[in-house]
Amino acid sequence: MTGRPAPPATAVAVDTLFEVDQLLEPPRAFREQAKISDDSVYDEAERDFRGWWARQAEKLLDWVEPWHTVLDDTDAPFYRWFVGGKLNACYNCVDRHVAAGRGERVAFHWRGEKETREVTYADLYRDTQRLANVLKARGIGKGDVVAIHLPLVPEAAVAMLACARIGAPHNVVFAGFSPHALREQLVFSEARAVITADGVWRDGRAVPLKARINEHIADLDGLRTVVVLRHTGTPAEMCEGRDIWWDEAFATAPPDCPCEPLDAEHPLFTLYTSGSTAKPKVVVHSTGGYLTGVGWTTQNVFDLRPDRDVFWCTADVGWVTGHSYVIYGPLLSGATSVMFEGSPDHPHRGVWWETVERYRVTILYTAPTAINAFLGWGEEHPSRHDLSSLRLLGSVGEPLTPKAWGWYHTVIGGSRCPIVDTWWQTETGCIMITTLPGVMASKPGSAGRPLPGIHVDVVDEEGDPVRGEYGYLVIKRPWPAMLRNLHKQGDRYRQTYFGRFEEQTYLGRFEERTYYVGDSALVDEDGYFWIGGRVDDVINVGGRRFAASQVESAIASHPGVAECAAIGQRHETTGHAICGFVVLRQSLAGGPELERQLGDRVAERLGETARPARIVWTASLPKTRSGKIMRRLLRDIAEGRDLGDVSALRDPDVIDELEQAFSEQPA
Ligand code: WTA
Repeated sequence: MTGRPAPPATAVAVDTLFEVDQLLEPPRAFREQAKISDDSVYDEAERDFRGWWARQAEKLLDWVEPWHTVLDDTDAPFYRWFVGGKLNACYNCVDRHVAAGRGERVAFHWRGEKETREVTYADLYRDTQRLANVLKARGIGKGDVVAIHLPLVPEAAVAMLACARIGAPHNVVFAGFSPHALREQLVFSEARAVITADGVWRDGRAVPLKARINEHIADLDGLRTVVVLRHTGTPAEMCEGRDIWWDEAFATAPPDCPCEPLDAEHPLFTLYTSGSTAKPKVVVHSTGGYLTGVGWTTQNVFDLRPDRDVFWCTADVGWVTGHSYVIYGPLLSGATSVMFEGSPDHPHRGVWWETVERYRVTILYTAPTAINAFLGWGEEHPSRHDLSSLRLLGSVGEPLTPKAWGWYHTVIGGSRCPIVDTWWQTETGCIMITTLPGVMASKPGSAGRPLPGIHVDVVDEEGDPVRGEYGYLVIKRPWPAMLRNLHKQGDRYRQTYFGRFEEQTYLGRFEERTYYVGDSALVDEDGYFWIGGRVDDVINVGGRRFAASQVESAIASHPGVAECAAIGQRHETTGHAICGFVVLRQSLAGGPELERQLGDRVAERLGETARPARIVWTASLPKTRSGKIMRRLLRDIAEGRDLGDVSALRDPDVIDELEQAFSEQPA
């Protein structure tokens, strides 16, 4: 693949609102206090990655029994880490902090839609034991899958940890998914129990949850228990003998439940991931390796000081980011977090910034989809609040354009906070590529470099490393937090992730089985990784290949643009014609002059070949429930195809709007 990001300019271009096109060293004040402030850690990990990870596992976690083998690769790609070791995730996240006298520390400042609550480690200690006993009384124990279908409430944390306490792998199903999707997951995972709520709040309205799922779970014989939390007060019919109210069950549950010592490889949870197009996969994560990766990254990528910081990861527990950086990472570190139920624009567009101010949040971790929305809404919302407590900002989920980076840095971070743009996946379990904030300069638009102990590369079709051009992102060595399998689909696991470059391994060219990520990326002269997006989204114009993110960064550099998506629309002679779907900042309207300006920006950076053949103005982009742009759908619309499965869409109404915009704005 060809094409590369524009070389760093020496100064901030004046005509580009917020765009920062340069290397930014960590602010001195930040570096001086950072937990990791020199880069020897990279070499140290490189010299012996097994030994290095073993030392981290020992430092980060309390083990009941030590492991005898750090990494067992005899059955690769079914890797096993810390073999022989025993531990318990709930013990590490809760009990040990209480035992150390920190029970009164707030684990979550919870801001619900209707109420707020402070949840301490002692509260989690009490409630996880009770819920674990409720489950045990229903015959649920080690190895039984428990589905959790809850909104972002503290009880979601209690539910996950209670499962971990007794060794029942949890399978969280995002509360916004349809009852049909829930059912599918229950059947596939053979779940023995569901923990859910009477309803969820959606922008002030109570939406039923339990009542909606009733008919979809009625015939599931293996499902013996449904625990229902009263949250919205929505009535729900209960099935005698199977269903039980959370509060009633708690009233009679015994208070003490010891933590079950579990093998390091015991599955902590399974989680669906849709990937880009294929049928959803159910990723299996381990206990010891997962917690090691998540613990290390929480404490070092976010430079987290549990006694001082207030950490806020805005993800829902329905996604891996919620698992790793709302629940397990912060809790095993003994940190204080914010948990926020609801949307960023309810009851008003400043509610996040009001929340930062209220709890004096020091570290904010969110996604480009949110940052782009705020950018579109304008500075007046954050500017009404005191954001001076913030000291570090993070992003995950999609490429962050240099423009969005600059906006986040300036408007939210007051130009004083480093930004960690973190690349990872449901499958990787923890952050893999980013900049350690006290050590490494940021390049807006680039995620940074592989973390210590992580061996990532960009290769061509043959598996040979490529530099300065886009290629396939791969992971060349196993890492502790990696997925262990796809639930009940070992062959699919092997083929999907390790099949692509199998030959190279057999030929002895690769040291270990190489993991195929499915993203395109470029490594520049400084070893920084620029993520291009999913491989399926690569655009090919007359033999020149462009990553969606390259075109999008160029379009977004225009001061008037809030957000955009670029796709290749099939074209008879050139292969693809580039089509840009553009959302403008508030109160701006598109037109031929603006279209020309956007085209010029793309042509200037990537050459005339990349000039979009067409710009479509739209009020919104099609996104998944976790906030990722569905470029596949935009291609289908552009090429007039049947839209296929759109159940992943957060807002199905957007389709009509886009189809209309597309037909009314001819090329
Ligand atoms: C994309 C979310 C660019 C990427 C933790 C990856 C990113 C997929 C970034 C995984 C980033 C995630 N820059 N792209 N910083 N972070 N992605 O499984 O395509 O929901 O493969 O995990 O999101 O999404 P998932």
